[in-house]
Amino acid sequence: MHAEIVVLPGDGIGPEVAAAALAVLDTVAERFGHTFRFTEHDIGGIAIDRHGEPLPAVTLEACRTAHAILLGAVGGPKWSDPNATVRPEQGLLAIRKALGLYANLRPVRPHPAALGASPIKAELLEGVDVVVVRELTGGIYFGEKTRTADSASDLCSYSVGEIERVLRTAFRLARTRRGKVTSVDKANVLETSRLWRDVAARIGREEFPDVALEHQLVDSMAMHLLAKPREYDVIVTENMFGDILTDEASMLAGSLGLLPSASLGEPGAVGIYEPIHGSAPDIAGKGIANPYATIFSAAMLLRHSLGLEAEAAAVEAAVHAALDAGVFTADLAAGGAAVSTPQATEAVLAHLRT
Ligand code: NAD
Ligand code: IPM
Ligand code: MN
Repeated sequence: MHAEIVVLPGDGIGPEVAAAALAVLDTVAERFGHTFRFTEHDIGGIAIDRHGEPLPAVTLEACRTAHAILLGAVGGPKWSDPNATVRPEQGLLAIRKALGLYANLRPVRPHPAALGASPIKAELLEGVDVVVVRELTGGIYFGEKTRTADSASDLCSYSVGEIERVLRTAFRLARTRRGKVTSVDKANVLETSRLWRDVAARIGREEFPDVALEHQLVDSMAMHLLAKPREYDVIVTENMFGDILTDEASMLAGSLGLLPSASLGEPGAVGIYEPIHGSAPDIAGKGIANPYATIFSAAMLLRHSLGLEAEAAAVEAAVHAALDAGVFTADLAAGGAAVSTPQATEAVLAHLRT
């Protein structure tokens, strides 16, 4: 097949990990007889520097007509002045909103060879297979913000429709897996969470009676996720809770550098594929970032946007083979021998070619 893929490398380690995923997609195209055309555009800090805004119109237009979007990461100290009016992160939020990408899928599957990188006991990690479905275009991220000299506020609001559609994504996903949804909220305190819980219960009862639904408060969820991660199948939650819980969940896999994501909207909408981690300013430019999360994101792109399941599985198998062979970047090596970003990428490419 032919696919037009927009690449948004962004800032910090973004360009390093995006280059790794591009090399993988190129190799997939070669091996499976596809043509992928990559068009690079600016987002985030680099877009502020070059265009004066974090999401230039030319970037958004290119994304609207693409088959899929691969994104590195945005942000960094250069653009993080607390009083700055323009921020790289605004570009990311704006593109998610503009493209209607309300469901962010974040799978967490600790790999047996990398269990040593996790601070959690290995026996708790065996068999863990969770997907967090994070609501991505609503909640406190997008509510009205105010700031005066002595106070500030961020409004959190959700409509029934916003909750229904992401819950349906989670329930449908659970049907293809172990048939269990855990809906996470703070219904003991927040009105938005009480609405969330009502809607989740109704959608479950009326539309997905075959799927088991449980409700869990977010604070205890943060604890259970580490204490008994095997219990969970699909976890669905609002925007900010999902952001925080997935960085926590990355410790089950051993590193932020292992968790991919897919941001999806209505069927037919273009998707964004990106690692869940950020621009990692502390290691940017050193060639030591873990590229696997972005490579796994490229696999999700092949599966969800291009419908290329065999190719997606081949990419995942190639990363698993690299992990099995102990090809670890520093974040996974636990002080042992570590490879560079290009070396880790090359190991994946080698497995893909065979
Ligand atoms: P971060 O995810 O960038 O880094 C957290 C820690 O994890 C750092 O120690 C970093 O070195 C490490 N890490 C992250 N990815 C790694 C990888 N692939 N390989 C090895 N180590 C990795 O989070 P932060 O430091 O809180 O944020 C830095 C900047 O990134 C901020 O400007 C933030 O807004 C931005 N950010 C962007 C995104 C995104 O673009 N989607 C996501 C999160 C944070
Ligand atoms: C993520 C990031 C973003 C978020 C930031 C950079 C806006 O942390 O993709 O998880 O909070 O959504
Ligand atoms: Mn995050």
